[in-house]
Amino acid sequence: MFRRHRRLRQNEVVRSMVRETIVDPSDFIYPLFAVEGTNIKREISSLPGNYHLSVDRLQEVVEEMREVGVKSVILFGIPEHKDECGSGAYDENGIIQKAIRKIKEIDKNIYVITDVCMCEYTSHGHCGIIHGEDVDNDETLEYMAKIALSHAKAGADMIAPSDMMDGRIDAIRTILDENGYKNVPIMAYSAKYCSAFYGPFREAADSAPQFGDRKTYQMDPANSREAMLEIEDDIDEGADIIMVKPAMPYLDVIRMARDRFDVPIAAYNVSGEYAMVKAAAKAGLIDEKRVALEMLTSIKRAGAKMIITYYAIEAARWLREQM
Ligand code: PBG
Repeated sequence: MFRRHRRLRQNEVVRSMVRETIVDPSDFIYPLFAVEGTNIKREISSLPGNYHLSVDRLQEVVEEMREVGVKSVILFGIPEHKDECGSGAYDENGIIQKAIRKIKEIDKNIYVITDVCMCEYTSHGHCGIIHGEDVDNDETLEYMAKIALSHAKAGADMIAPSDMMDGRIDAIRTILDENGYKNVPIMAYSAKYCSAFYGPFREAADSAPQFGDRKTYQMDPANSREAMLEIEDDIDEGADIIMVKPAMPYLDVIRMARDRFDVPIAAYNVSGEYAMVKAAAKAGLIDEKRVALEMLTSIKRAGAKMIITYYAIEAARWLREQM
């Protein structure tokens, strides 16, 4: 006597009845890159199918999102000018602030999450204030808080700090609460690794460090228990959602976090993961649609509920076609 596992695989109806993990467009968060200027919709060469968009061209993408049922974005801004302290990041009329206001004007129901970091805005490309060769943790916290507050004031629905300074969630939660933004949640990039998979993003966001690397603040790819400490501290400091980033090479970390913590978990399916699939598909080596959907399903199966992905619009369209 043996168990016939194949009985429940006989046709799509029964397969779909026993399916444990369902990926839905409402799980996706779509990254958007806003640039200064007008009438710009320029494909990002390192991220085919994604665009640098001036504020006046955001509407097209928002409409595309609505068509396929993607309802949330994470915003990145590429400023015209950079300086030592990343002042463009907290300027009331900075690129991100303008983009937030514009999206809310187009459709107030689009959920706007903002990436809070300094690397796109600093002349040295690091994620904080530099003293000598080092990023000063505590001084950076003041800036992170200031940036987060300016995003909330512009109308952001959720704040997502990605700098990896210690104590940032506490600093941001405090300033938001003091200024009447008690209901703005924080999604913490808690287990953010110092990963080579961010390569295509740094080209897209022009945020590569001008000297050194990010190893003194982002996590060592070899560590998973340390990730649990990072997550625990972020939850204690007030994070509502925690994130693991990148996703695919760190599915074990997502699973560990899922088993240990009860807050919602987000995963960032980063630029390098996306670019690899795109490149392999272009070379005719894989079936892009099946690989992309399998990748997203695996991230969800590992324990993430939300997935930040450059595939959001395309994958949502594929999922609709399958229904
Ligand atoms: C900013 C930030 C980065 C990414 C998201 N926010 C780059 C970095 O840390 O170097 C990477 C996203 C991606 O690769 O898709 N700190």
